[in-house]
Amino acid sequence: MFKKILGKTKKQKRLLEDGQSNNELIPSHIAIIMDGNGRWAKKRAMPRIAGHHEGMQTVRKIARYADDLGVKVLTLYAFSTENWKRPRTEVDYLMGLPQKFLNSFMPEVMERNIKITMIGDMDALPVSTQNVLKDAMNRTKNNTGLILNFAMNYGSRAEIVSAMKKMILEVENGTISIDSIEEGTINQYLMTSDLPEPDLLIRTSGEVRLSNFMLWQLAYTEFWFTETLWPDFNEQTLMEAINDFQKRNRRYGGLKGEEIK
Ligand code: FPP
Repeated sequence: MFKKILGKTKKQKRLLEDGQSNNELIPSHIAIIMDGNGRWAKKRAMPRIAGHHEGMQTVRKIARYADDLGVKVLTLYAFSTENWKRPRTEVDYLMGLPQKFLNSFMPEVMERNIKITMIGDMDALPVSTQNVLKDAMNRTKNNTGLILNFAMNYGSRAEIVSAMKKMILEVENGTISIDSIEEGTINQYLMTSDLPEPDLLIRTSGEVRLSNFMLWQLAYTEFWFTETLWPDFNEQTLMEAINDFQKRNRRYGGLKGEEIK
């Protein structure tokens, strides 16, 4: 799940050689729990939605940078199944963000060949939000660059429950047998079936928990936490995370190289 510097564009090589990265391995799939919008706003005596607005600008900045670096998939936790408990005005604002974001970013999305995808329960979103997301996914479905994957109304346990229901139905109707079920079979029923597992998970704002995010998919992912609030997260912070990631020794539970001798 790594991507080598070989074959990168001039721009990507320049970014990596600028001293911003001392290694040639860029994570293919980066997943981010974007946290701290509310605290960012509070620090400035602004309403929470101002924090979300600023957070949206960070999404744009980080999507661009991830694309420039040659990251293949960027999954962003934009709204959890638990976020419905927030005040109505905040939920309404968050539901309107995809439209705000795509209205201004869509031309660049097309120019950059970015593909927009989504994980989460689309049906429970307001129809207007659904339409915006469906339209973006449809317009970018043949794009072959960075996959910008939004987790909207996403909860990992709900995803696993739904996957199990589908799988059990297929066992009951005889399409698959119990004996044939293995880890890869479970993967096929998850909303991430078309994506590689994340190599790097980032959570901002000093919180150190997964909050029901990609529990199955993160089994071997490297975690990186920062005190930085999401609206303050920038290219340098992402490069810091990538640099740390590159120093990690991923063994997937086994041994590597000389350790085996
Ligand atoms: C958590 O911070 C953040 C969210 C629940 C929303 C995240 C959404 C964005 C960053 C914008 C998404 C953009 C698009 C285009 C969909 P919080 O509000 O819990 O912050 P706090 O913990 O400081 O209160």
